[in-house]
Amino acid sequence: MSFPARRLRRLRRTPALRRLVAETRLSVDDLVAPLFVAEHLDEPRPVASLPGVVQHTRESLRKEVAGLADLGVPGVLLFGIPAAKDPEGAGAWDPEGIVQLALADLRAEVGDDIVLMADLCLDEYTDHGHCGVLGPNGSVDNDATLERYARVALAQAEAGAAVVAPSGMMDGQVGAIRAALDHGGHHEVAILAYAAKYASALYGPFRDAVDVRIAGGGDRRAYQQDLRNAREALAEVALDVAEGADVVMVKPALVALDVIAAVRAAVDVPVAAYHVSGEYAMVKAAAERGWVDGTAVALEQLGALKRAGADIVLTYFAREVAELL
Ligand code: PBG
Repeated sequence: MSFPARRLRRLRRTPALRRLVAETRLSVDDLVAPLFVAEHLDEPRPVASLPGVVQHTRESLRKEVAGLADLGVPGVLLFGIPAAKDPEGAGAWDPEGIVQLALADLRAEVGDDIVLMADLCLDEYTDHGHCGVLGPNGSVDNDATLERYARVALAQAEAGAAVVAPSGMMDGQVGAIRAALDHGGHHEVAILAYAAKYASALYGPFRDAVDVRIAGGGDRRAYQQDLRNAREALAEVALDVAEGADVVMVKPALVALDVIAAVRAAVDVPVAAYHVSGEYAMVKAAAERGWVDGTAVALEQLGALKRAGADIVLTYFAREVAELL
């Protein structure tokens, strides 16, 4: 009988051996928790399609973020749900807008103990649900939207955001936001760019969480990327880095592992991956039926993002995983 000289099973024999030779690891330090805060709520409101996730009040958000900071989670990403929406999405840059108020609360509560990030987009604030303002032909007007994004960036920076995260996929958004921040003296505020963001059915539960319905049953395929394309993602990332992105993000995560790996190989800035609402909801739904071990599957999925090359993982599992690790 002959044996192969190298037996790979030798290094899998015990948990300590496996730990020692693990090529990648998921740690609390990797995590960013996306959080929702709504105007005019008396108490937190559960989001049916995202079990365990709520629309926070300012008060409950404050407690949640303090708890996450205690657990060692290094970042949170805020989304606002305004009481009223309009065609322009003016609530997004109103100094009294919900995210601005929440940012100021959190600055006072946790300061720089946790990185305060604000999603920078208009879709939660527009009555038509698109990520920008509409032109006369009904499509999203790129450059008119950039002007609004610049206002949002300033409002968020002034309220205390350490990082702004443009997610609207307008051409030139990172450059426009960097210029606005610098002009306003906010040189320290960083930009986490949703650089390769694909149009995806996996955002469904998120839209429930932020009360967004796109007018006329529309979609975002005219500005978000087509999932059939990977080279295009590298072009998006290169432009964002050239325009001043400090961190680039790929989204959704599991349907774009190849893109995460390619982006990691192409740039030197930190790479983030967003494990989105639908990815979370699918695990939760199957776990509720007893069909999969939800926690184990979550760890496998988030671990795969690290293996693909992500430095930062945005996930609705952040608290659960932080409590576990
Ligand atoms: C846009 C935005 C979306 C998500 C993050 N930022 C929705 C969209 O593009 O339609 C989705 C996040 C998720 O599904 O968890 N503001």
